[in-house]
Amino acid sequence: MNETLRWTRKDLLGIAPLDAPEIELILDTAESFLEVAERPIKKVPTLRGKGVINLFFEPSTRTRSSFELAEKRLSADSMNVSASTSALVKGESLLDTATNLQAMSPDLIIIRHQHPGVPHMLAKRLEAGVINAGDGAHEHPTQALLDALTIRRNKGRIKGLRVAIIGDIEHSRVVRSNIQLLNKLGAEVTIAGPRSMMPAAAHALGATVSYDLDEALEGRDVVMMLRTQLERHKRSLVPSVREYFKLFGLTHARLARAADDVIVMHPGPMNRGTEIASDVADGPASVILEQVANGVAVRMAVLYLLSTAATGAAPTAAGQSDKEPHAGDGAHRGES
Ligand code: CP
Repeated sequence: MNETLRWTRKDLLGIAPLDAPEIELILDTAESFLEVAERPIKKVPTLRGKGVINLFFEPSTRTRSSFELAEKRLSADSMNVSASTSALVKGESLLDTATNLQAMSPDLIIIRHQHPGVPHMLAKRLEAGVINAGDGAHEHPTQALLDALTIRRNKGRIKGLRVAIIGDIEHSRVVRSNIQLLNKLGAEVTIAGPRSMMPAAAHALGATVSYDLDEALEGRDVVMMLRTQLERHKRSLVPSVREYFKLFGLTHARLARAADDVIVMHPGPMNRGTEIASDVADGPASVILEQVANGVAVRMAVLYLLSTAATGAAPTAAGQSDKEPHAGDGAHRGES
């Protein structure tokens, strides 16, 4: 753990603004939260008295439930607002909804939205810290952070690893956040997919670009498969699911090209038989469910760090505030 770096940001909007020590601080803090899940009573008092609002405008299983669980494990007072049951359906603007929620004095607002930049717009206008839980095809920072934690725990490092990210690159926010994070921590990233799912400026993303799955898999330490995001396709981008699986689906036979100790990742939700064979998804190289478990600890770390920045002081085990904020003080590890 970096004992000297302090978290100072009000918001977590993307990986782009973070530097490597900040990313490592989040990962180290998440490591220290992992053991909370092993306790008989999975709760610490760290965010007692803090208010968190989860504002999801797109469907989510993993991100939403792991933020909710992280908030509960930290003893925060959390509340969910979904677009379909809010006054948005009566014509209220997103900004009016958000400023009304702000009037209730939450400390943090988690937002997922289909339009890129919405979390950034809210962060500028709201006093509460804002966490981007996925904005269109732009960024999904907590996904990249939980992916990095999973890689680091399995491989012992990120620097120097050869990572392939395969699939629907154009429509993926996961790939954009992951390329930036992996580059900042010194990994070598290759992206691969059909030309119809590759953005025009793919080479500007910061990764080697391939259109051949076998080439992209050769010798890789980490293989990250992406979901084919049919709901974001304005037209059919592949002749058929069968054709896609034949060209870009991950099977055991194709995975044999990767390193012997390769790990297979997927952010979920998975389309089995489209981008990944079921026996690979459930096979010995798969760390897909570890990603989900690590997601709770990463989100606990992000909530903890942002709330210490918001108050200017780290909560103690007793739920009070220290005069000297310090993310590495271990205060969050106290039992409730
Ligand atoms: N990985 C991810 O964002 O999954 P959800 O859409 O279920 O949150």
